[in-house]
Amino acid sequence: MKKFTEKQTRNFYNSDDMIYRSFWDKKGNCHWGYFPRKNISFLQSMTELNKKMLKLSNITEKSNVLDLGCGNGVNSFFINQKTDAAVTGIDLSDTRIENAKKVLSEKNRKVKNQIQFLQGSATKLPFRNKTFSNVWSQAAIYHIHDKEKALKEVARVLKKDGIFIFDDLIKPNKNISNEAKKLVYERLLFDTDFNFVSYQQELNNLGFRILYAEDMSEHLGLTYLKLADMAEEKIKNGENREFHIAYKKLIYAYRKTWKIIKQGDIGWALFVCKKL
Ligand SMILES: C[S@@+](CC[C@H](N)C(=O)[O-])C[C@H]1O[C@@H](n2cnc3c(N)ncnc32)[C@H](O)[C@@H]1O
Repeated sequence: MKKFTEKQTRNFYNSDDMIYRSFWDKKGNCHWGYFPRKNISFLQSMTELNKKMLKLSNITEKSNVLDLGCGNGVNSFFINQKTDAAVTGIDLSDTRIENAKKVLSEKNRKVKNQIQFLQGSATKLPFRNKTFSNVWSQAAIYHIHDKEKALKEVARVLKKDGIFIFDDLIKPNKNISNEAKKLVYERLLFDTDFNFVSYQQELNNLGFRILYAEDMSEHLGLTYLKLADMAEEKIKNGENREFHIAYKKLIYAYRKTWKIIKQGDIGWALFVCKKL
């Protein structure tokens, strides 16, 4: 499997924002969805994931939360809006942090005092030990090239009994198809050694106790089917013509990803753990 660098990931997320906003979510939210009912819209499924995570996260108005790999900051605002917690969003992409800061600059003084955004890497967090009561992360940790280092950083910046809630991609089977390599792993510039069980063992080794673990692979499949339909709709309606070539490649990859998930070559998990 090809190895990717942090610089490649940073460049990727600095350059691709507009295309994802054009069909995924115009506000810049860019994670997968949770479908308690199959007929809900994709945007609703992203909100359902946020709601589910918020319920499990123990975040209150007293919390000091780190949103790790916050992207355009949409979910940092969601956490703050729903709980009144202080939130710090950090992301590798300069572009996405600039976007988040721009949205923040338009908020009222209270929100400005409660939220901040910083460019930086999860592998070297610019925070003191035991700064946060909660670390929250969505669709970001799979990108981190030295995942063990990042998970150790999370443990370092969390207070004792602090809660780490995150989702991540997993590899249920060790030997995966070439199609999966090309259309999932190389397209998303990542690889992982963890399956649903070994990930939890690693978290235990790093000083976390697992409070909740859910294999969400079925929802990852539904996400990609919905996204393929949404991009196809844009082509049918003649919208965003500058992205049609890119949409066609994504539609192909997304529809194949459904099958790749079914055969166990990629999966998705949600974990909640407590720092001991
Ligand atoms: C798919 S986006 C998800 C963004 C956001 N969490 C959301 O749900 O909309 C993945 C994000 O992870 C960020 N990322 C990748 N590697 C990172 C690292 N080493 N440290 C911090 N952020 C990273 C990317 O820049 C990108 O914004």
